[in-house]
Amino acid sequence: MAHVVVVGSINMDLVTLAPRFPEPGETILGDRFLTVHGGKGANQAVAAARLGAEVTLVGAVGDDAFGEQLREGLAHENVRLDHVASIANCSSGTASITVAEGDNHIVVVPGANARVTPAQIERAQAALASADAILVQMEIPLESVEATLRLGQRVGKPVILNPAPAQPLPLEWLKLARYLTPNQHELAILLAADASEDFRSLMDRSPAPLVLTRGSDGAWFRENGEPLHQSGFKVDVVDTTGAGDTFNAALAVFLHEGLAVAVRKACAAAALSVTRLGAQGGMPTRAELEAFLATRAPLL
Ligand code: RIB
Repeated sequence: MAHVVVVGSINMDLVTLAPRFPEPGETILGDRFLTVHGGKGANQAVAAARLGAEVTLVGAVGDDAFGEQLREGLAHENVRLDHVASIANCSSGTASITVAEGDNHIVVVPGANARVTPAQIERAQAALASADAILVQMEIPLESVEATLRLGQRVGKPVILNPAPAQPLPLEWLKLARYLTPNQHELAILLAADASEDFRSLMDRSPAPLVLTRGSDGAWFRENGEPLHQSGFKVDVVDTTGAGDTFNAALAVFLHEGLAVAVRKACAAAALSVTRLGAQGGMPTRAELEAFLATRAPLL
């Protein structure tokens, strides 16, 4: 069983389903509201655990009711919480999500996630040193993202940096990642490039090996210097929230099987994740993923 350590955010997602996105300044009536567990770090931890990995999460919740519920949800999914801090007098992270038109808009208020410190990551050194893969995203302070990259380097373990939500980072940090996993938009921001630049030329300029996600079009990566494309899997889309998190988790869990296999499984897991509502709602178990792969061919 792979051991995956996830360093990242834990949010309560406040999800509104609407017939369309409102214009700025406009009020519209929505169809449904629900409160579901999310946060890029927590989502990746849950997805990796469902895929059969032993998972340790490094992060923080507040001392509010959401914090307690989020902890219970993670424990129920068999995620180890020894390195999840409960911060006094602090709210848990929240994400206000509108799902409409087959897409989503998200506003995150970090709350306790802003209190994940480099010192907390150092305290998790033994866990990171025993990991097969380490995952980190960018909903925690950037100094803690840097601390994760540097600690991963020090203990000799591969760090997958999922640069979401994207902002420019020093090239020196990016080079510490075993893989960067942006979508095209995030890659342009990371490289401070023009968003209209062709993704293949953006890929050529990446300072670290890249697995570029392309939504329903699958993913691009390189093996022996050659660019390779893994097609997406056709499914009926209900909610795309958490698809990227599921992709990253599967990549980490299956990395030891080789990059091409891991990317194929990651595309399939991400496809399954969008077939149900909520970031964690559609994340597949290992058995569900295997059954899906046995019956479905990737798009040509
Ligand atoms: O990647 C999806 C996640 O982004 C949501 O669960 C939300 O919490 C935001 O962090």
